[in-house]
Amino acid sequence: MMWIHTLLFATSFLIDYGFAKPVQTPFEVDATKPRKLHGRFLHITDMHPDPHYLHKAAESTGCHRRKKNKKSKNKECDSPFRLTNYTLDFLNKNWADEIDFVIWTGDNARHDDDRKLPRTPAEIYDLNRHVAAKMTKVFYNKGIPVVPSLAPGPNSITNEYSSIWSQFIPFPYLQVFQRGAYYTTEVIPNEVAVISLNTMYFYDSNKVVNGCPYKDRNDPGNLQIDWLTVQLREYRERGHVPPAPGNYFPECYIRYVELALRFQDTILGHLFGHMNADHFFFLEAEDLRIYPDEDDETKVTSDQGLLESLYVDFATLPKKPKQSELDDYAVVNVAPSVVPNPYLPSFRIFSYNITDKGKRAERTGKRKHGHRRGSEGNKANCKSDEYRNTWRCHLDRTWHSDPHSPSRRNQRWTPLGYAQYYIPHLDQANKTMKPKFELEYVTYKAEDLVPSDEGGQVLVPLRHLPEELISNSATKAEKSKFAPYRLKDLTIGSWVRLGHEIGDSSRKKLRKKFRRYMFMV
Ligand SMILES: *[C@@H]1O[C@H](CO)[C@@H](O)[C@H](O)[C@H]1NC(C)=O
Ligand SMILES: *[C@@H]1O[C@H](CO)[C@@H](O)[C@H](O)[C@H]1NC(C)=O
Ligand SMILES: *[C@@H]1O[C@H](CO)[C@@H](O)[C@H](O)[C@H]1NC(C)=O
Repeated sequence: MMWIHTLLFATSFLIDYGFAKPVQTPFEVDATKPRKLHGRFLHITDMHPDPHYLHKAAESTGCHRRKKNKKSKNKECDSPFRLTNYTLDFLNKNWADEIDFVIWTGDNARHDDDRKLPRTPAEIYDLNRHVAAKMTKVFYNKGIPVVPSLAPGPNSITNEYSSIWSQFIPFPYLQVFQRGAYYTTEVIPNEVAVISLNTMYFYDSNKVVNGCPYKDRNDPGNLQIDWLTVQLREYRERGHVPPAPGNYFPECYIRYVELALRFQDTILGHLFGHMNADHFFFLEAEDLRIYPDEDDETKVTSDQGLLESLYVDFATLPKKPKQSELDDYAVVNVAPSVVPNPYLPSFRIFSYNITDKGKRAERTGKRKHGHRRGSEGNKANCKSDEYRNTWRCHLDRTWHSDPHSPSRRNQRWTPLGYAQYYIPHLDQANKTMKPKFELEYVTYKAEDLVPSDEGGQVLVPLRHLPEELISNSATKAEKSKFAPYRLKDLTIGSWVRLGHEIGDSSRKKLRKKFRRYMFMV
């Protein structure tokens, strides 16, 4: 099912799988001195100080609760440029020493309504240059890889973009990047990679692409997915893993879901951004089935509609999923943006398992290969002309599903959770009451935040947590409003269980929290 709202950007982050390469390439300077891992990365989205975008915000509900106060309007509306500075300075001071890499989704794509104002490329490039320079200074120059996801659309802009962003793009991928703005980066050499996709090629409002039709293999969306398949296969063979989608053309979406499930053992997560409400959703095997009488997927056009469709979908999730049922799911995490429209500025710090235990030997015995295929169950319908030449009738590859993979069982590289920070009272900020990032919530159980043993992995540096969460009073911490979900890790099973709970309409309190974080109200 596709409830995705307006996801224009996709990023995938990949992981080592246990058969890791023996040693790193001898010519890489870095390899002789491996970085000490913190087990954390930053996911930031839509920080872009886009003046056009802000103008639009001022006209609508944007400019956040300042609308009525005309005098303050301007001030509020030029703030995001300062906000970009402020955010990066804040991250520099507080987080740069605590993270291993940065995933940065959602750069500069626009909604269609930007026709109202002419946009000047020169200005856009200028702002991009400014942000790129700042990102370089704050992270890149300190040896922290930054993986931007850029979706400028298939036109000449890409060249200018690649010159601005080229330092972040590994050399072997520059050429592909110049053509399509997608690429991959090994953020932890030979172990973890991030694949940055150009979802403009999947986006169904994009008039210059065809939408991945089975019969048009040169469609840019098909070419990108072919490229992605090759990357995944290669990473998988080397022992790696990655994530993903949006308001996609149906055929692009089908291909994406199939890849997400086929490479479930290699992919660690699917991270998205771009002006979206904080939420998560599932890519499901069910999406690959043909139901001849199915209504066309109704497009979700409002946040409320999105919320309702998530409830409906979550309600179908299994309560206590069997391992084999979990082969059928992948999870997409959507983060809210820094740009305070329509929500409040925020960023996420994810943690992932950096244990050395069982690093390579973990799996004894033969690994069971999944035997499933995406087209299973569609045979009868695939005889008809209507479906014969659609992707759902041609998904004949075996799935690599494995309950022992990092997306399924907590081990080295498994995503463990995230802490989300935001600026709660932006509308009240002024010179004396400066805007301030505060913890909004964590996915963790409070009791996991203080490691029980010496040298245990610190999920969130304690100085970045409110007193209440690390208090000695267990009950206080357990009940903390900052820890609503109490997830022990971010495996697929944990998300399915949480989704099931949210899908239960009697869980009113939980739903209220979910809704509150979604819309930041
Ligand atoms: C942002 O910071 C840069 C220096 O890093 C500075 O040149 C620029 O004027 C600042 N912009 C705003 C709006 O504060
Ligand atoms: C990391 O994985 C190992 C199992 O391989 C587990 O013992 C450990 O508890 C995990 N660490 C965290 C912080 O969850
Ligand atoms: C700044 O905001 C605070 C709280 O919103 C308010 O009490 C204070 O008077 C404001 N100061 C100025 C200079 O506007």
